[in-house]
Amino acid sequence: MKIAIVASEGAPYIKSGGLGDVMEALPAALSRIAGNEVVLLLPYYKKIKDNAAYETELVAAFDTQLGWRQQYTGLLKLKNRADAVKVYFIDNDYYFGARGGPIYGDCDDGERFAFFAKACLNCLAALEFIPDVIQCNDWQTALLPVFLKAQYWGTFPNTRTMFTIHNVEYQGWADGWFFDDVLALPWDLRPSLDMHGQVNMMKGAIEHADMVTTVSETYSRELMYPYYAHGLDTILANAAWKLTGITNGIDVNTFNPETDPNLPCHYNAASFVNGKARCKAALQAEVGLPVKADTPLMVMVTRLAGHKGLDLLCYIARRLLWENDCQLLILGTGEAQFESFFRELAADFPDQVAAKITFDLGLAARIYAGGDIYLMPSRSEPCGLSQMNAMRYGTVPVVHATGGLRDTVPPADENGEGGLGFTFQSYNGDDFYASLKRCLDLYRYNRDGFRALQQRDMSQDFSWDKPAARYMELFQRMQ
Ligand code: GLC
Repeated sequence: MKIAIVASEGAPYIKSGGLGDVMEALPAALSRIAGNEVVLLLPYYKKIKDNAAYETELVAAFDTQLGWRQQYTGLLKLKNRADAVKVYFIDNDYYFGARGGPIYGDCDDGERFAFFAKACLNCLAALEFIPDVIQCNDWQTALLPVFLKAQYWGTFPNTRTMFTIHNVEYQGWADGWFFDDVLALPWDLRPSLDMHGQVNMMKGAIEHADMVTTVSETYSRELMYPYYAHGLDTILANAAWKLTGITNGIDVNTFNPETDPNLPCHYNAASFVNGKARCKAALQAEVGLPVKADTPLMVMVTRLAGHKGLDLLCYIARRLLWENDCQLLILGTGEAQFESFFRELAADFPDQVAAKITFDLGLAARIYAGGDIYLMPSRSEPCGLSQMNAMRYGTVPVVHATGGLRDTVPPADENGEGGLGFTFQSYNGDDFYASLKRCLDLYRYNRDGFRALQQRDMSQDFSWDKPAARYMELFQRMQ
């Protein structure tokens, strides 16, 4: 099958969050399936352009018309890619190449990614690569299925589109004038992109894509409720017939405690007790906590954003630390209120709390390995990847049973049996505390049971093989 994957970020070239990880692993997994030809299209951001490791060659250059604008479009092929995925960057200095700073958040983001979506179609045409499926990700690529239907069906008569929602919170809103001035689409399409008189790009994709997916089964159902859908609940409920959830995997080669170069020592599911204990001691020393083998170390690697459930942790933190012999280690940056809360907490409980307010992938790996318990009380979580990283490294997750957390962490009982971690159902601090307490009690009073749970976590298959096969099933169903 010929598959084009279109996204606004993809590791290792450019990454701001989980989408970047998925765009590294999913194309690779699809390309390993016999008979597939996989192309990945990304914007040529300054950060990629400036990175000497990524050598490119110019394949085509032309203009893309965006309303009255004629915008240069360079198609660059990445030369040194090890596997079979063909990676192309779309070059335009005005929208991407000459802008430093974060990759999202400019006031003309709508126009930038409208350009990207249209340029991708022009590039596929220039390559004479006519895909069976174009898989689009999040609002930044939402206009591609719309342009395809409106203006490119002659070039791509049999190409189907899949739109994947990684997070419904960001929908790509623009003022009403954007429809004529930037998109210049026929007026009969206006209602499908309209929401409250404005343009909503994600809505357009949901209406026009042949299939819509999201990154876990539970989230695909949650999306039909106002609480989760950020205004798109009825639109998504109407699209229920073409909406499916496929739970993400993780890159099990990168995240492998047996080989991870970031770790002070290595271990695996068959023999982990000593290796993990050494990683824990080294981690405690690294972050300045007392090195104590039998004090449970609770860890969190996260963006410090409200929807990650930090309000619950703030609410229980002092009680948790007073009442239990335990340690807490947080790594991440984000909202000022949380950064200062955890700094203060670390100052008040220097023997129990360490807060690393920074972004550090190496330390993140050492935390997955050196922790005992991984906290992820997210208010909502489309999929979540770090709970899977944690389990792969034998760190027991305590999570809010929502979205992908519900699908990847079935609840264990108080003996640690019958599941993979500890969960709570309703989003409140006391329930979070109760589930965490069950985990701490298991650690304290039944270490064998805790170890059996760790071993079960480490033995799970979190690879992309199964999800990639499910994407293939859907791609075939669309033909
Ligand atoms: C978004 C979601 C996260 C998901 C990731 C990859 O970042 O918030 O839950 O794991 O996308 O699909």
